Amino acid sequence: MSSAALASKTAQFDQKAGIQPEDRSKIASELGKVLADSYMLFIKTQGVHWNVVGPTFYSLHKLTEEHYGNLYAAIDEIAERIRALGEKAPASYRKYGELSDIQDYDLEQTAEQHVKMLIDDHRTAVKSMRGAIEWCEDKKDFVTADMLIERMSWHEEAIWMLNSIIAEK
Ligand SMILES: [Fe+2]
Repeated sequence: MSSAALASKTAQFDQKAGIQPEDRSKIASELGKVLADSYMLFIKTQGVHWNVVGPTFYSLHKLTEEHYGNLYAAIDEIAERIRALGEKAPASYRKYGELSDIQDYDLEQTAEQHVKMLIDDHRTAVKSMRGAIEWCEDKKDFVTADMLIERMSWHEEAIWMLNSIIAEK
């Protein structure tokens, strides 16, 4: 099938499925930001797993292992949803740096600074997701919205767990 014919078939499918082609591509670009945030957070969480020191080492080493494992699986799920929407999934560090508001980090930090940094990054990811969910629901892409609500709930739980490690009371 020619690419024009394929594009027309895809557009017909989208309209029947209730998502307009222009909305599909906007949803995919919102998901690209979520993918970039998740990748940045994955790398930084693994960095904390490797480099953290001090009395909270063992708890943080174990918790970050669980968190980067979850993020690794999520990255694949988010990228594959972008593909299901018919767009290319961003797959380069340069692109992730451009798309995400999560910054690279300085290795020379205390355990508490590492944890506060991750909490802040999870909050950044949640903020992008909240915007994307509203957009998806407005455009009736409930499948993507559902996936993002599940991700957002995981990030909020991760924030609670990280906060509990540094809380004093
Ligand atoms: Fe490890």
